[in-house]
Amino acid sequence: MSESAPVNPSNAEMWLPGGPVEDWTTDYDIRDDAYVENPVPIWAEMRDKCPIAHTDRLGGSWNPTRFDDVREMAGLVPELSSRQVLVMPPPAGMPEMSRYEQQIAAAPITADPPIHSWTRRMLLPTFAPKAVLRYTEFTEELCHSLIDGFIEKGECDGAVDYSQQIPPRVIAHMIGVDPGMADTFVEWVNGVLGEGLNDPELRVRTRDELLTYLNDEVNSRLEDPREDLLTELLHMELDHPEANITPAVVVGIANLLIVAGIDTTWSSIGSALWHLGTNPADLQRLVDEPELMAVAVEEFLRFYSPVTMARVAEQDVEVGDVCIHAGDKVLMNFPAANHDPEHFENPDEFIIDRARNRHVAFGSGIHRCAGSNLARLEMTAAIQVWIDRIPNFHVSDREPMKWAGGQVRGPRIMPMTFTAGTKR
Ligand code: HEM
Repeated sequence: MSESAPVNPSNAEMWLPGGPVEDWTTDYDIRDDAYVENPVPIWAEMRDKCPIAHTDRLGGSWNPTRFDDVREMAGLVPELSSRQVLVMPPPAGMPEMSRYEQQIAAAPITADPPIHSWTRRMLLPTFAPKAVLRYTEFTEELCHSLIDGFIEKGECDGAVDYSQQIPPRVIAHMIGVDPGMADTFVEWVNGVLGEGLNDPELRVRTRDELLTYLNDEVNSRLEDPREDLLTELLHMELDHPEANITPAVVVGIANLLIVAGIDTTWSSIGSALWHLGTNPADLQRLVDEPELMAVAVEEFLRFYSPVTMARVAEQDVEVGDVCIHAGDKVLMNFPAANHDPEHFENPDEFIIDRARNRHVAFGSGIHRCAGSNLARLEMTAAIQVWIDRIPNFHVSDREPMKWAGGQVRGPRIMPMTFTAGTKR
């Protein structure tokens, strides 16, 4: 296919809900209420009966649930392309994009080699283990100030008032845009990845707003360079023969940092607090044994892995006993892989001090999460500051819990009640 050929067919019918799921192995639906609420038993059923499940819903996709299959598929580059990481077909009204435009839309996550290798290299220095440490103080202070806002009340929404507030502010601080935009970033992420997946009109409108904003931010730095990440990316000189850093590439990277850096981490922080707020024994252990925090964070990541990205096959490939045909979509089900009993002892049991925990919550292969050091830092700060200030809390039934499903799963409404809180 040529570089400029449109590869973005829209089909409004694909968006229609397909009714209740009768058979999870041949007709799964990632928007189904049971799947959103608790996908773990459904993955177990798929793994037992048909480890690479298929559905015709949403334009059709494959869903591998075994660790080895997911890891093998993540290594199938370029056979499985990342230029469409959402399994949902693009809604009507979304402009058609060339292959090149698809790849830089949110590079490096949407890019294949060679574009992938140089766009990823643009980001690596910023996210190196030592480099992210500079955000520790900012993140801890932010967590304290959020808690200051509700500690007197003895209750809050742990998703809306806390988890959701942290990553957008860290990202705004990091890329150098107005921190007052944090709430708008949350709305945009919801429009692009959350509610927007069930509402094509919202998805198109949100994408336009986000890209207009980022284009303006990037263009303003072309005229007026600043001391921030966007300026640094625009003027970066990479020793790579294929590198071609344009404003559009930087807009795509900023788009990814907002979309990939926000609801992923907010989901992980929220799931960790949900776990501690519904499992008092684990909460008590973490309060009494703070040295467990690093291993506990890995178990939160494994058990409640939030991210499932998609691939599109460029050619026919065989994995296990299925043939994935050119043009088919595949969901990289890292969360299901993390519950595979062939790789994890008692995978459906949360073991706060699990010793062997080589999970794939951050993916596997060339696209493995570039922001994992920052994500771990944010999770650690958010959980530690919370349990230091609010060591006694539980998820209450004041209003129903709400989980987001789709390709990024985590709590979106989570009523919390606490009896004792510590002032600063
Ligand atoms: C707990 C939070 C997070 C989780 C679970 C997570 C998970 C993932 C996963 C599974 C992938 C691989 C996707 C694929 O194979 O297609 C990925 C890629 C990526 N993530 Fe994260 N992520 C998190 C937080 C972050 C943060 C905070 C940032 C940066 C601000 C970030 C930036 C990226 C980037 C740039 C990539 C693309 C890497 C590449 O394609 O080479 N992530 N993430």
